[in-house]
Amino acid sequence: MNMPNEDTANTLMQRIAVLEQISESPDFLCRRFATAEHRRANDQVAEWMKAAGLTVQEDQIGNIIGRFEGIENDAPAIMMGSHLDTVVKAGKYDGMLGVLCALAAVEHFAKRGERLPFALEVVGFADEEGVRYHSTYLGSKAITGKLDVAELDRIDGEGISMRNALIQFGKDPEQLHTAKRQASDLRGFIEVHIEQGPVLERENLPVGVVTSIAGATRLAVQLHGEAGHAGTVPMHLRRDTLCAAAESICAIERICKADPELVGTVGRIDADPGASNVIPGHTTFTVDVRSPSDEKRLRAIDEIKHHILNAAASRGVEAQIEQPHAEPSIDCDADISRIMAEAVGNHCTSVQWIPSGAGHDTAAMLEMTPSGMLFVRCKGGISHHPDESIEAEDGAIAIKVLIETLQKLAQQ
Ligand code: GLV
Ligand code: MN
Ligand code: MN
Repeated sequence: MNMPNEDTANTLMQRIAVLEQISESPDFLCRRFATAEHRRANDQVAEWMKAAGLTVQEDQIGNIIGRFEGIENDAPAIMMGSHLDTVVKAGKYDGMLGVLCALAAVEHFAKRGERLPFALEVVGFADEEGVRYHSTYLGSKAITGKLDVAELDRIDGEGISMRNALIQFGKDPEQLHTAKRQASDLRGFIEVHIEQGPVLERENLPVGVVTSIAGATRLAVQLHGEAGHAGTVPMHLRRDTLCAAAESICAIERICKADPELVGTVGRIDADPGASNVIPGHTTFTVDVRSPSDEKRLRAIDEIKHHILNAAASRGVEAQIEQPHAEPSIDCDADISRIMAEAVGNHCTSVQWIPSGAGHDTAAMLEMTPSGMLFVRCKGGISHHPDESIEAEDGAIAIKVLIETLQKLAQQ
């Protein structure tokens, strides 16, 4: 049997480079959900899928899905893939690597006309990062039927509702429910993803198997105080929202630093009106807290809310705290992970099992179908950063592991 070779690795890296060019900014990679660049990325991936002999559909949330039928038409599918949206100033592998490794694996079977006892599907999820609407897994949740239609009322930073963004993207929000798949349509889901951490590099291993995905909560905080003259309003008469935010942010760092199983990040803050000689009357910031322990995460969130309310109240500032995202931690499917581990054992001196601190579409898919994840070694452990990098040979090994996993599943 011909397995992926240097050409496969080159094609993978060339496709990654093509998707990297599809960005909202000329200076860095940023591709948010339902933008013109999302449209171009979907169209490009659809073109590759069609060239590989897959039938292609885009569902009503904007997931792009290519299908290669099994021995019998309409058999349940093993779906594979990841997301095509990115963070701001993103690396080019987060998400895209999983879509393109999945495509390469299906191409392997399609090229040979080799049908399996299940269909193969490649998915490019529409939104995993949640940059535009602060609510993650929009694509995978639409597929599992867990996407609440109330989400359509969310507004982005430019005041565009998700409903209107989808209409501009060419979708019909009233038909969102049609993106839902039946559990019986799927036999499982597999996601390849850059590790985004240092473990595989430290262990000198190209790939590893994910055990679980950490739980996460996001908060959106709004502080309303009073703007005023920086020179004339005495300190004790101020209602300075940026000071309340600063005190809250330090508390978040303190709370999360106190436990190695917690991480907490304030990734965005905006102060209004934003002038050096004006007291900030209105401040918004985001909070992102993760933990493998749901109990610790929930306790930390309670404590953080309490600190924000106190920091605000002590300055006569009103605080509004919304929680746009909360997901529990979840274990990957034991059977799929074991089969993947057997395939990993063919290419690695040992099988590394790794818990994921990052969120992934697999977490959403696990609610519907047995799902597993394969991590690919990440240079320097750097991710969510333009320096994110993998070796082409590691990508080729991930593709081989996917193919062998599918072959093993076919024998079951
Ligand atoms: C996705 O990358 C996340 O974990 O925020
Ligand atoms: Mn990411
Ligand atoms: Mn990702």
